[in-house]
Parts: sequence; structure tokens; C-alpha cells
Amino acid sequence: MTDHNFKNLTVVQHPVIDRDLTFLRNRNTETSTFRRVLERVSIILAYHALSDLKVKSREVETPIQKTQGFELDEQVIVIPILRAGLGLVDSVIRFIPDAKIGHLGMYRDEETKKPIDYYSNLPKGLDKAYVLLVDPMLATGGSACDALGFLKKNGATNVHFMSLIAAPEGIARVEKEYPDVQLITAALDEKLNDEAFIVPGLGDAGDRIFGTE
Ligand code: PRP
Repeated sequence: MTDHNFKNLTVVQHPVIDRDLTFLRNRNTETSTFRRVLERVSIILAYHALSDLKVKSREVETPIQKTQGFELDEQVIVIPILRAGLGLVDSVIRFIPDAKIGHLGMYRDEETKKPIDYYSNLPKGLDKAYVLLVDPMLATGGSACDALGFLKKNGATNVHFMSLIAAPEGIARVEKEYPDVQLITAALDEKLNDEAFIVPGLGDAGDRIFGTE
């Protein structure tokens, strides 16, 4: 894991992630490759983001004898922040085929850099679930904090946030406002620029996933 002083942050390190982030950062990477590579990286991230899931014992009978096995003991609810968060949902579903999916629609106003909410649809049972909020970018942290506040207001208590890249400014804000939320990312970038874009970053993940640059 990379060196940093954020106590709730896990930066997942793997040679495949190092290589793939380079494809994702490259401005010349076309949409089809961007999607395929993002899918691969997000599978590795989801594997780590689910590592705190509770399990309970159950017996299983192998062809040889009975032994102790396990089953998951929590409902997983994955919640993408639209639009870009949609690009991370399938990776979670691969591990948890019966996960419920909630949606939070928000975009960052280009002038104020503040999130504007436009949609929400949350499944029931947030209070008891393992909630995984997903968005490829954590920049100022405005969108993440807005989403986390909404989830908490709706009863969520056990929330993890999974992103592809994050800026220190956004991590610091989420840690301060929501110290009980674990953050998982593939890259902790250098900083935000004057336009509140992540530097060096990869541009706007939503635009690159959906081909709307
Ligand atoms: C981007 C990104 C995050 C947000 C991050 O969304 O996907 O949701 O900005 O910025 P913040 O941490 O400063 O709030 P965008 O507004 O581009 O919407 P999109 O997902 O529809 O592209």
C-alpha cells in the first residue's frame, strides 16, 4: 500500500493496476479500451472493498466428509453516484450476484464545483446492509460527502466508498466529515488544480466511460 497519513484510506497496489492506470490516464486511450480496462481494475478494487464483509459458519458436505464452510452474513447494497459510478457496479455484482443496487444522481456544477442532486432511488434495508458507494473520482469530496450524508439520513451505518482515483483534498474532507467510512482507491493523486480537477488524474471519468468528451 502507498505511504500516506489517511487512516481510513486503502490504496490498492498491484502491478496490473499500475499498468492499467497508465492506459486509463492516457488521453489517447479510446472509449472501448477505457471501458475494458476500467472493468478489470474495478474487479480488483471490488475484491478489496468487500474484504470487511461478515460471514457465518455453515456446514458443507464434500465428496469425502462434512466440514465447516461459510456464507455471507450481510446484504450488500451497491450505490453508484451517477453517471460515472455506473462503471464500477458490474465488478461488485460479479462477486455478489444478489447485491441490491441503489442510485444517486448528481453532477458537479462547473462554476461552483458543488454537487447538484437530480435523482435518488434507494433499496430498503440500508440500516443493516454492507453499503458500498462507488464513484471513479473523488476530487473535492463534495459529491461523496453529499451522497454519504444522504445515505446516513436514510439509515446507513456500515458504508465503504470505492473510487478509482482520489485527490488528497477529497480524502481529507471525507475523513473529517465521515470518520467511520472506509475508503478504497487505486490511486492517490497529487492534488487538485484551480479548476478542481484531479492532477495528474485521467480527465472526467464519466465522459470517458460514456464517450461524451
Ligand atoms: C464527477 C465524478 C464525481 C465528482 C467528483 O462527476 O464522477 O461524481 O465529479 O468531484 P467532487 O469530489 O469535487 O464532487 P461529474 O460531475 O463529472 O458527473 P458525471 O459522473 O455525470 O460525469
